[in-house]
Amino acid sequence: MYSCSRIARGVSRHGPMTKCALKTATTTSTSTTAAGASIPMWTQQHATIHTSGNRPANPVTPKPMNPDPRENPMVGIAPNKDVNVAQRRIADFNLTGRVFVITGGGRGLGLSLAEGLAEAGGYVYCLDRNNKVDRRWEEAARRATEWGGQLHYRQQDVQDAAGLDRTIGTIADTHKRLDGLVAAAGVQQITPALEYRQEDAARMLDINYTGVFMAATAAARQMNKYKCRGSMCFIASMSGSVANKGLLSPVYNSSKAAVIQLARNLAMEWSPINKLDGTGGIRVNCISPGHIITPMVEKNFEEVPGLREKWEAENMMGRLAEPHEFKGACLYLLSNASSFMVSPPPPCCSPPLPLFLS
Ligand SMILES: NC(=O)c1ccc[n+]([C@@H]2O[C@H](COP(=O)([O-])OP(=O)(O)OC[C@H]3O[C@@H](n4cnc5c(N)ncnc54)[C@H](O)[C@@H]3O)[C@@H](O)[C@H]2O)c1
Repeated sequence: MYSCSRIARGVSRHGPMTKCALKTATTTSTSTTAAGASIPMWTQQHATIHTSGNRPANPVTPKPMNPDPRENPMVGIAPNKDVNVAQRRIADFNLTGRVFVITGGGRGLGLSLAEGLAEAGGYVYCLDRNNKVDRRWEEAARRATEWGGQLHYRQQDVQDAAGLDRTIGTIADTHKRLDGLVAAAGVQQITPALEYRQEDAARMLDINYTGVFMAATAAARQMNKYKCRGSMCFIASMSGSVANKGLLSPVYNSSKAAVIQLARNLAMEWSPINKLDGTGGIRVNCISPGHIITPMVEKNFEEVPGLREKWEAENMMGRLAEPHEFKGACLYLLSNASSFMVSPPPPCCSPPLPLFLS
């Protein structure tokens, strides 16, 4: 599980780095950016040093330079967000016929994650408090059918625990199964700690923490009922491990810390299979993203001038994320590919990180 986190952050220690150096060396020694600037890259001399161990007597090794940090290095390498990954799916990531619930799936990160699961063939039910969907949701639902998946919408507030239980129960009963839950519904409130009112703190925790907990227990009931070895992904945040500079949101950050700890506890409680009745086998994990440009964050930018620039400057990648950049992590956690991944470790590295699977 620890090694999965390392791989997700691109710090694999052996093969991939060697392959990368080799490939570059045999193709080119420079690379041209979109702006036309020439960037020195690894040379044949690097490849000799890294792969054979025959170090020349006086090696001259030009130092690699960083590309423009605001440019997404995946552009031109990975399919863009309009190209469907399902065309190239491998069996472990295939979700055909599986059923998923995503709270907060009406927009923002939740909608992108829902689309990712549908692209892999899943039937995905987006639960959200709004009584109707917007144009972006409708477009995502139309795209999903092109790839064999489906997006459905159900109005459901996660603060209504009884309603949540009924809605998830009805979905599971319809398909006679429930394979996964993504708990993404969440709210943010920027207020200095000394001005925080009790009712605001209670509301924040009711949505961001209790809402996740109630969605998880409702889903686990159905997974146990239909003996599905389901998987859950809670959307926490790097704010659960660090206090974000420039953003006064003490209760939001605490609520995300609580979500991370909840995931650890539920993973411990639910992941073993009960040999007597066949229930259990439910994996629980978190994703703790860094800053993503969603409607929630765009509101933060309106409220706090200069916040975007500050976050970009503080981020080690020099930019903020787009929601679709988390589809792969979520698909991994809800598919067979992560069958041995549960129970998050304590944070072991220095944020801010682009993404932390925990
Ligand atoms: N945007 C970021 O930078 C960022 C970073 C880390 C984690 N997150 C987390 O990702 C999740 C999604 O956030 P987002 O940025 O897409 O925000 P968003 O506001 O764009 O989307 C949140 C969705 O949750 C829904 N929601 C809120 N309260 C609800 C309730 N009581 N019941 C049902 N639905 C409810 C909203 O209607 C909305 O559709 C949140 O949990 C957020 O804390 C966001």
